[in-house]
Amino acid sequence: MLIHIPKVLTDVQVGICRERLAQADWRDGRATAGPQSAQVKANLQIDEGSAEARELGKTIVGALERNSLFISAALPRFVYPPLFNRYESGMSFGTHIDNAIRQVPGTVGRIRTDVSATLFLSALEDYEGGALVVEDAYGAHKVKLPAGDMVLYPATSLHSVSPVTSGVRLAAFFWVQSMVKDDGERALLFDLDSAIRDLTAAETDGPAIVKLTGCYHNLLRKWSEM
Ligand code: NI
Repeated sequence: MLIHIPKVLTDVQVGICRERLAQADWRDGRATAGPQSAQVKANLQIDEGSAEARELGKTIVGALERNSLFISAALPRFVYPPLFNRYESGMSFGTHIDNAIRQVPGTVGRIRTDVSATLFLSALEDYEGGALVVEDAYGAHKVKLPAGDMVLYPATSLHSVSPVTSGVRLAAFFWVQSMVKDDGERALLFDLDSAIRDLTAAETDGPAIVKLTGCYHNLLRKWSEM
């Protein structure tokens, strides 16, 4: 399931990210790729231990902690510190799959990548091409969102970034280890939670909402791991 999360960052926060990233030391993105994906990867990244990555990463994680749509959709247990990439004209990232397990930089901890996230930082008019393409059972989905918006997709998906044909595409990307690792179970919980919120907003019959809320929590209890 692909989920669009609008306005994760404010316009001011996006402006700060772009300003800091303009001064960053951009390096060959193959440094963080596995052997298969390195063959199809052509982009730039900043070092994950750099001051910019840490500072901007904290801003993003702080914004996610207050974003109820993100929490409902991802049911996060751990969020990997965000990384940043840059695609200039002619750069792309061919079809690949992200590593299942990643070492958290600067720690001995590892996370399982259940959910992948891309947070767009360039305005749509700043570049041509550069769509994120995510494949699932229903085909290939092209995603290009306004600056500050984010897409979540199952980390089990094959995906790519189409060639940028002009301008510059900046984005943050990271992974989430979810309390519910199975995408189908997580999607079901997200739908149930959304329906309960809609019913609550419409002030529908109270006892039925309480029963549905009970179903939500009992399913979460059954499927979550801590
Ligand atoms: Ni990827």
